[in-house]
Amino acid sequence: MFPLPDEIAEPLARAGTRLGPFAREFHWFADVPSTNDVAGRMAERGAAEGCVVAADAQSAGRGRHGREWISPAGAGLYVSAVLRPAAHVIPLLTIAAGLAVAEGVSAATGLEPRVKWPNDVYIGERKLAGILAEGAVPAGGVPHVILGFGINVLRAALPPDVAARATSLDTELGRAPDRGLVLGECLAALATRYADLQRGEGARVVGAWRARATFLLGHVVEWDGVGTTLRGVAEDIDAEGALLVRMPAGVVRIISGDVRWI
Ligand code: BTN
Repeated sequence: MFPLPDEIAEPLARAGTRLGPFAREFHWFADVPSTNDVAGRMAERGAAEGCVVAADAQSAGRGRHGREWISPAGAGLYVSAVLRPAAHVIPLLTIAAGLAVAEGVSAATGLEPRVKWPNDVYIGERKLAGILAEGAVPAGGVPHVILGFGINVLRAALPPDVAARATSLDTELGRAPDRGLVLGECLAALATRYADLQRGEGARVVGAWRARATFLLGHVVEWDGVGTTLRGVAEDIDAEGALLVRMPAGVVRIISGDVRWI
């Protein structure tokens, strides 16, 4: 573990109580394989809810569905939080996390990211950030969820193939952003949205998510079924975060996976 750089420590201190339980315990590393793995080990050893692990670089950062999350030094935010959610919080957790990252980026930069089901964060047609939530029930231990998020900060550090399909904060702003401020605002927004879920106010989260899902709802999407590609019009998400898609035979509920816009 390394001392917190000022660029991170100062905005976190300024965010203060807005961080709720997040970052009361904060671990900063120069380089780890994956912050989700480090946070997972800390959770197994009893780390409290809200413990945050962040790194300047990851050598084996991963995304959803086993994909790689390229994590060059200084070029992104690579962050994982330990959560110990009540059962009623879990269905909307990743929806709330994607929303919180979009809201945090907005508060820190003035950009207005959109969300794509289930939990990607986009600006225009390009992905800015992603969420990876991993749950575990250790033998004899207390269940936990590790909520990881990665935000692209500097475009130049991304490999050309990723830069071609993704965006970054510096691309969108035309200048380097204040990385620590973005982190502080994302954790503050996460604290707000997590508290909404804990209070049973998932409808607030769904409503705010819907308002940022402007290029998904009402549009044709396709996804992979068993041995076939399926297509329909995305209509809404329900109270448990499932995507509701209208097909000729009726509305289907998609609970996991990825959808593509047509
Ligand atoms: C995705 O869009 O597929 C999710 C990407 C999640 C990346 C973050 S970076 C911090 C944390 N550690 C990881 O290895 N992955 C997540």
